Parts: sequence; C-alpha cells; structure tokens
Amino acid sequence: MFKELKEYAVENHVPIIRNESGKFLCDEVKKNNPKRILEIGTAIGYSALLMLSSCNAFITTIEKDEIRAKIAENYFRKYEVNERINLICSDAQIALEKLSRNNEKFDFVFLDGPKGQYYKYLPFIKEMLLSNGTLFADNVYMGGLVLSTAPIPHKQRSMVNNMRKFLDLAKRDSDFDVNVFNIEDGIAIIKKK
Ligand SMILES: C[S@@+](CC[C@H](N)C(=O)[O-])C[C@H]1O[C@@H](n2cnc3c(N)ncnc32)[C@H](O)[C@@H]1O
Repeated sequence: MFKELKEYAVENHVPIIRNESGKFLCDEVKKNNPKRILEIGTAIGYSALLMLSSCNAFITTIEKDEIRAKIAENYFRKYEVNERINLICSDAQIALEKLSRNNEKFDFVFLDGPKGQYYKYLPFIKEMLLSNGTLFADNVYMGGLVLSTAPIPHKQRSMVNNMRKFLDLAKRDSDFDVNVFNIEDGIAIIKKK
C-alpha cells in the first residue's frame, strides 16, 4: 500500500515506519477503532495514510519540517483524505502544549517524532489520552542500545538515556499498562487505564 510514498522515502532518505511495525500499527488501529488519533512525526504522511486506511478516525498530525509537511499535504489531497487530517507544521513540544491547553482529547496516539524527546511529551500525551486509549511508541529499542548493558557511545548516550527515561516513567505510572514488543526497532504499547 502507498508504494509511491515508500519509494519517495527510500530515494530521499526520509525515515518512515518499517514494514512489520506498519502492519502492527494497522492491526492496533483496527482493534481499537479510534475516533481521534494524534500522531507526532508526520514525515511525508505514510503512517498517517496507513492509519486512515485502517479506521474512520480523524488525525491530528505534527511535523516540524516544512518541506516534509508540504509533501504530506499533497499526498493527503491526492488520496482524498485531507478532510480527515489536521496537519500542524510546528515543533511537537509547542504543538502539544497548545493542544493540551485547548483540552483536546484523543483515543490513540502514534509517537514517532524525535526519540530523545519522548519522555518530555509523555505528560501531555497522558493528559490528552482518554481512558482505555492507546499510546503506540515506535523505535523504543533504538537499534538495541536501549537494552544494551555495554557503555553507550558518547554521541548517542543522551538520546538512549532519554528513551530509557521514557520507558521508566511509563512503567512506573500506575495509570498505564506497558508492553514492549520485540518487533523491528521495538514498539511500546502503553494503555491508559
Ligand atoms: C520517523 S519520522 C516519522 C515517520 C512517519 N511517522 C511515518 O512512519 O511515515 C520522524 C519525523 O519527526 C520529525 N521531527 C523531528 N523532530 C521534530 C520535532 N521537534 N517536532 C516535530 N516533528 C519533528 C522529523 O522531521 C521526521 O519527519
């Protein structure tokens, strides 16, 4: 599905969700049948299109890169789903603060933005996620570094520590049920009770 987006992503080095993780995302969306989805990290719109094709939800999606956001917008129009999408071109932290100030609520969140910032986004997501809602967070293994007991190379250390912090915060929170799946780069499914 959406072969041209996958080809564009490969040719232009745009990171998009991997195949098996994408299937898992569609399965989770189908299973939960959400009404309102929040996505952090639109890129060119591939995962948003996958989710839209798996349910009847409306998606709010956040992307800070203006060029990618423009490309996503064009694809949303091409696939005639633009009326089911609110694309916010902004830094995610700023967008999340605004959405939560406006008391927005979601029943499914796909977290796929900057990996080192997941832990900062968690309180906003928690507040906006309805009871029984699902947070689907991709790349929580970060190429295996998150689980590694070996010293982490200096360049990746703070990002890896921040991802560990994210998982730790979610697991310690009694309002959440956390399951981490060994699929590709690691997927956390965090259910709000
Ligand atoms: C892994 S890609 C998203 C892929 C997309 N979800 C998909 O599977 O088709 C992560 C995206 O997050 C965006 N991003 C990085 N930092 C951001 C930030 N601070 N705020 C919003 N978006 C950001 C990047 O530009 C990139 O397009």
